[in-house]
Amino acid sequence: MAKLDLKVNGRSHTVDVDPATPLLYVLRNDLGLQGPRFGCGLGQCGACTVIINGNATRSCILPVSNATAEITTLEGLAVNGKLHPLQQAWLDEQVPQCGFCQNGQIMTAKVLLDKNPRPTRAQVVDAMNQTLCRCMTYYRVQTAIERAARVMAGGAA
Ligand code: FES
Ligand code: FES
Repeated sequence: MAKLDLKVNGRSHTVDVDPATPLLYVLRNDLGLQGPRFGCGLGQCGACTVIINGNATRSCILPVSNATAEITTLEGLAVNGKLHPLQQAWLDEQVPQCGFCQNGQIMTAKVLLDKNPRPTRAQVVDAMNQTLCRCMTYYRVQTAIERAARVMAGGAA
């Protein structure tokens, strides 16, 4: 066990854990952040995605001792109770089915729009194609990302 400092969603935490523990387990079990989900546990599905250093990161395969930079989880997207435009677009487009993959969809989409605020549909498809959904919500995910991009650019939804 080791005491490790984590910065998550703008708050500092000290956890006492095995340094090899996957970051996902620490976020969910020690910090009570239930946004990131356990899907495959193998870095294959994207359900556990968080943002570290501006990159979509699969927290199920990242040892917590390697998570030294600021971490953003789904819980960190809303500001002062106001949903992020992606979250609002997800509601407006009624994206989720079972919902299990949707953390990964939204967090991956956030990184896409941070890097490319007005992606083409082909760029959206390309950016999202490793984030799996067994309910096949892909089309609504793509539509919601485009809606959020319009809103973030100051246009109508
Ligand atoms: S649970 Fe992490 S990629 Fe599937
Ligand atoms: S909404 Fe069910 S897995 Fe994507």
